[in-house]
Amino acid sequence: MAKEFKRYLVTSALPYANGPVHIGHLAGVYIPSDIYTRYLRLKGCDVISVCGSDEHGVPITIKARKEGVSPQQIVDRYHELIKRSFEGLGMSFDIYSRTSSATHAATASAFFRKLYDEGKFIEKTSMQYYDEEAQTFLADRYIVGTCPKCGNDRAYGDQCEKCGSTLSPDELIDPHSAVSGSVPVKRETKHWYLPLDQYEGFLREWILDGHKEWKTNVYGQCKSWLDGGLQPRAVSRDLDWGIPVPVEGAEGKVLYVWFDAPIGYISATKDLTPDWEKYWKSEDTKMVHFIGKDNIVFHCIVFPSMLKAHGGYILPENVPANEFLNLEGEKISTSRNWAVWLHEYLEEFPGKEDVLRYVLCANAPETKDNDFTWKDFQARNNNELVAVLGNFVNRALVLTQKYFDGVVPACGELTDYDRATIAEVGAVKASLEANIENYRFREALKDAMNVSRIGNKYLADTEPWKVIKSDPERVRTILNVALQITANTAIAIEPFMPFSAAKILAMLAMEKFSWERLGAMDLVEAGHRIGKPELLFEKIEDDVIQRQLDKLAATKAANMAAEAAQHVEAQKDTIQFDDFQKMDIRVSTILEAEKVAKTKKLLKLTVDTGIDRRVIVSGIAEHFTPEELVGKQVLVLVNLAPRDLKGITSSGMILMAEDASGKLRLLQPSEATNNGAIVG
Ligand code: 2FM
Ligand code: ZN
Repeated sequence: MAKEFKRYLVTSALPYANGPVHIGHLAGVYIPSDIYTRYLRLKGCDVISVCGSDEHGVPITIKARKEGVSPQQIVDRYHELIKRSFEGLGMSFDIYSRTSSATHAATASAFFRKLYDEGKFIEKTSMQYYDEEAQTFLADRYIVGTCPKCGNDRAYGDQCEKCGSTLSPDELIDPHSAVSGSVPVKRETKHWYLPLDQYEGFLREWILDGHKEWKTNVYGQCKSWLDGGLQPRAVSRDLDWGIPVPVEGAEGKVLYVWFDAPIGYISATKDLTPDWEKYWKSEDTKMVHFIGKDNIVFHCIVFPSMLKAHGGYILPENVPANEFLNLEGEKISTSRNWAVWLHEYLEEFPGKEDVLRYVLCANAPETKDNDFTWKDFQARNNNELVAVLGNFVNRALVLTQKYFDGVVPACGELTDYDRATIAEVGAVKASLEANIENYRFREALKDAMNVSRIGNKYLADTEPWKVIKSDPERVRTILNVALQITANTAIAIEPFMPFSAAKILAMLAMEKFSWERLGAMDLVEAGHRIGKPELLFEKIEDDVIQRQLDKLAATKAANMAAEAAQHVEAQKDTIQFDDFQKMDIRVSTILEAEKVAKTKKLLKLTVDTGIDRRVIVSGIAEHFTPEELVGKQVLVLVNLAPRDLKGITSSGMILMAEDASGKLRLLQPSEATNNGAIVG
């Protein structure tokens, strides 16, 4: 039997305060955690939800250096921005704290000191990369080089963002300093290590035997870490930004950000309530960490080992991590500005907070990476929120105003169909609960939406607008049932779309219901006067979506220009004018195009050069389909000596430009030109 808990502690990964929050963060961590917390609160559970800014670590110092400001200025700026935008989206944390707080410094220091005093760390001296120019050790993101696993030449000393591998600085090929660009030397330095290998037995038993119910992606990652064998992990760094290592002889050293950040959950709870210990030290508390998939090892392996080493703390009951959300088919990237930023969304879509919450939950990357597209955002808003939820609520309320002057009519005798509808609404609760409690929020949202779907169908089938002429008594019952379903909708959607739930209640002129009332058909009393109906959602037009797509296109162009600037090849050797004059380049039109059999790359093109019709074989089949080439005007080097390719004689060459990403583009005259026109 599942264990009963007296209270809940919900934590959400602390976002780094080096940039704003984007939709990937929301879909991965914060929307699920807020749904879970709101649900528990509605049920009347003792629950607290803690979060805050993660204000240490190398990315913050790098950003500060780049901007010529202090790390404190960076974290102050982003802490405020993140906090405000979370509030704007209705995130209902009980506290949004920060790891630069005094409580946190004291808590993290004391934690480290206890482990140090009890001999739980290994002290080790090793050779680490040092930048002589900038006079600093190069930990984590301060060092960049080529990833040994995938060849990405911009991998960091702790991780390759391209292939996702965890790295150590020593693994990088051609390492260089991210601070000065110089090639580093090795210098001796001392650090403290948490011997994770000593916790392997405990972790195996606790996770692999004890938590088989964890999500497959989380369980699988833990298993592969454990099967790979754990190594001692450094918990200090040579940096001047962070919490000083609280031992003698540790000048210039701070706690590793991944040592102090999860302790931030404890300090946030301390700042929230003097009664914090009951949430952290009682086996009656169910602790759940909501995180993204790149945080799994820290929350399932490292932090639990720290808690175990310290003693006295509970461990998480579950760590529901989501996969990643992509944007329009590409990986979200802060550095490439490929994201939908929460603070910008809130400015550009005022009053549409729930639309984003809805879309990100409906499309959450729960079991695999998923894609956010603006077209899908528009379709879900128009076809689901407007057409189903909004339409149902609006019809129920408007008809009540129209036929009964806004006074809830009494329910008369129920038909079999009414009873079947009521039973359907009643069945939603169990499924919705099971889905939320098992972290299946997409399914849970479908359940919640089902209430209004049932209501919509009920009104469409019972047609009160027709029946009113012949049987006004029957319409009383229909609208009573419809209003009960409307009130049920407000309960069911509250964890997902709190703004809309509140609007429905305001339109019903009712106070918030408890979760337990979900399914009840006596929520709104006959004789009660409802408020003024307003539209819950409005249609999003194409031009609004196009503006967002244009914004992304501009970002893409800017990124390509920046990348091209970094990758432009050196100029070739000088040639004489006569050399150039030897080339005969003509405007031509592609008449036919077909793949060359048994090849991957070759296309056979028939072109009209103005001089003649001829065949050119071109290695562009991976870049263009035959259909998209036919009819296009291109530039052709016509006097290139013919050569045989796969038994076909190719007479000339189509000119192309290869961009920084290796993509080919046709070169074309800016306007239609006669074939045979000379280029020169
Ligand atoms: O990945 C991140 O954004 C980290 N700042 C998450 C930290 S979670 C916790 F441990 F604080
Ligand atoms: Zn890689």
